[in-house]
Amino acid sequence: MNLTLKVWRQKNATSPGRFEAYQAKEIIQDMSFLEMLDVVNEELISRGEDPIAFDSDCREGICGACALVINGVPHGGQKATTTCQLHMRHFEDGDTITIEPWRARAFPVLEDLVVDRSAFDRIIQAGGFISVRTGGVPDANAIPVPKPDADLAMDAAQCIGCGACVAACRNASAMLFVAAKISHLGLLPQGKVEKDRRVLSLVRAMDKEGFGNCAVTGSCEAVCPKEISLEFISRMNRDYAVALFKGK
Ligand code: SF4
Ligand code: FES
Repeated sequence: MNLTLKVWRQKNATSPGRFEAYQAKEIIQDMSFLEMLDVVNEELISRGEDPIAFDSDCREGICGACALVINGVPHGGQKATTTCQLHMRHFEDGDTITIEPWRARAFPVLEDLVVDRSAFDRIIQAGGFISVRTGGVPDANAIPVPKPDADLAMDAAQCIGCGACVAACRNASAMLFVAAKISHLGLLPQGKVEKDRRVLSLVRAMDKEGFGNCAVTGSCEAVCPKEISLEFISRMNRDYAVALFKGK
């Protein structure tokens, strides 16, 4: 396949960015999107030009590092697929593909397609953990967990912190991410002790980082590569109201 790429290039956080056009030549359909960018970068390096900066780590859909808006959609719009798991067979020979970084005030662009997502780290530091002493590994079934709670907690735990939900939201809301963390921890017995404090701290941290309110459009759920459900936002709102009422 031969493709035209329109890629956002930006030298650093303070310089203005612009789209640059590149040719991606002889791309194999079975390549991942990031492998296609690797090919383009090798060509740029061989010409003595700066390669396109982008984030990646696991390239297996589990770390959340790859963060590209492809043709206007975070992660490219394939159901339950991260950018690193997106394959070139979903594109046609001769296509023009636009590639941009996440766009959100709380995720400033550092260089080209790389954004600073440390706002998510600070939200987790505000209470996205369990600090009660849980002791050694208990025997199986020593702490009974209802099956529906265990299933729901595991669904929420799938969130990889990629930030696509923020990039897709017109308000740049981080509510799907925060809601997933709150349910992931709060549904399990070990996490229940700090449940009220956690939801208040995480919501406060989210607001402080400059993320917007939920736009109620469902765009976050639609682009989430781990199919985190909007239901978790409803749960978070309930948990938040209860914690406020208790005055914790
Ligand atoms: S909720 Fe989904 S889109 Fe948002 S950070 Fe988690 S995995 Fe990414
Ligand atoms: S590089 Fe880890 S999820 Fe894409």
